[in-house]
Amino acid sequence: MKKILTVLFVIVGVAIGVAQNRTVSIIPRPAVVEMQEGEFLLSAKTIICYGDKSLAPTAAFYADELAKACGRRPKVSSRRVGKSNVVLTLDSTMKEEQYALQIAPSQIDVSGGSPKAVFYGLQSLRQIAADAPTSKAGCLLPAVKIADEPFFGYRGAMLDVCRHIFTVEEVKRYIDILALHKINRFHWHLTEDQGWRIEIKRYPELSKIGAMRKETLVGRYRHSDTYDGTPYGGIFTQDEVREVVRYATERYIEVIPEIEMPGHAVAALATYPHLGCSGGPYDVRTTWGISKEVFCAGKETTFEFIENVLSEVLDLFPSKYIHIGGDECPKDAWKLCKACQKRIADEGLKDEHQLQSYFMQRIEKWLNERGRAIIGWDEILQGGITQSATIMSWRGKKGGIAAAKLGNDVIMSPNTHCYIDYYQTESPAENGEPLANGRRPLPISRVYALDPYEGLTETECAYIKGVQVNLWTEYISTFEHVQHMLLPRLAALAEVGWAYNRKDYDDFCARINTLRKIYDAESYNYAPYLFNGIK
Ligand code: ACM
Ligand code: ZN
Repeated sequence: MKKILTVLFVIVGVAIGVAQNRTVSIIPRPAVVEMQEGEFLLSAKTIICYGDKSLAPTAAFYADELAKACGRRPKVSSRRVGKSNVVLTLDSTMKEEQYALQIAPSQIDVSGGSPKAVFYGLQSLRQIAADAPTSKAGCLLPAVKIADEPFFGYRGAMLDVCRHIFTVEEVKRYIDILALHKINRFHWHLTEDQGWRIEIKRYPELSKIGAMRKETLVGRYRHSDTYDGTPYGGIFTQDEVREVVRYATERYIEVIPEIEMPGHAVAALATYPHLGCSGGPYDVRTTWGISKEVFCAGKETTFEFIENVLSEVLDLFPSKYIHIGGDECPKDAWKLCKACQKRIADEGLKDEHQLQSYFMQRIEKWLNERGRAIIGWDEILQGGITQSATIMSWRGKKGGIAAAKLGNDVIMSPNTHCYIDYYQTESPAENGEPLANGRRPLPISRVYALDPYEGLTETECAYIKGVQVNLWTEYISTFEHVQHMLLPRLAALAEVGWAYNRKDYDDFCARINTLRKIYDAESYNYAPYLFNGIK
């Protein structure tokens, strides 16, 4: 009898111990996680129920996602039926991105302040399911109560499709990856010196001339003078753009297009040389770096062209923000241009920096009149900015700090922490990294270390709207390589954006093993360095 009792005690003890020791590993880190007794069996009998019609697409979407994690697709119903339910509800007392997730042995409840918040709750559930023991009966999820909301409202990732272009399916996969990490902005860099990538019906030659370059540099910029001799290019048609925006919207991601001006515009100038100061001719750029050829700020035809382009862009993108670039605009051509100098004199401007401000503010005003707001790279601060411009700080954090001190909204995207086109380890050659921007190594720990509030008073911190990683693609020609640069560093950025006030790098490194299971299940081509012990 004593022996039986001892055995029973050990079995019960182990069972309780297992229940008590079970944790959930979610990235970005939730605000509150309370483990509970018991487990919920997610099985073929589970039904995803939604009370409000607005949750139907999210319910259907996640039935598909859970099918991938657990090998079974739960049914979806607008009514509560059966015994094993995942119940989705809206809670008007919660904020727009705030959710609660409760897994109890009898039911899973996901409630949120909006369908988007419920979507985030389900993304967390997806990570819990990825870690759960699975048998023929289904996935055994630990009982838990989670209360969660993001720290920053803007959590972004940029993709440059100009230096290299990717297919619509690949852009959608990029968006899938963002959704998994609760990223809510996709900044789509669409025009450049090396290629114009968005169809503009009024200017069809952009798709033929601006979208094509003669050849491409092989190897590193400034270290190589070898070119591949192969024409390269492509365009996203307006139907394709609409499809990408629809797909992202379904995943609660706003797509912010970037139309670059006044610099990084050689593809447009090659198509319409009269838009440059000298009148050309110009060739779509075949190498990287910065061109001295920029839009002429003196000619009215430049503004007509840009406004016509933006008119079509506004029809395609419902986003509040339109990114209008503003970075790396050398003033050499403007200094020699009669029209630009006349503009400076006529407008009473001090110099070419103020001419750039004139340019950006004129376009900003045009966009504001149509209900949109601009984002510009931090160079737009140089000649003065309006109060309504949002600054994307990329040359370190100093531009963002200056803008916040002026009372302008800021997105922190410093190249010291957020440029994921940079190498991922301190010894790229030793670690077998593919060719990348060699400016500085950017290991995942450095992305994680980003402090967007550093150097700011509490009042100034209120202007920091969020954070973003940027993926420039000079050295990235395949989508496999895109994923290698993006993952897992995006997970670190996601945690800064969502969980800034509860960051813990060692804990993050432990939790990421669960996210890795989803990367594996989705066959994402993530970089191995962190998982090989290079923190
Ligand atoms: C930039 O990296 N030129 C914004
Ligand atoms: Zn000019």
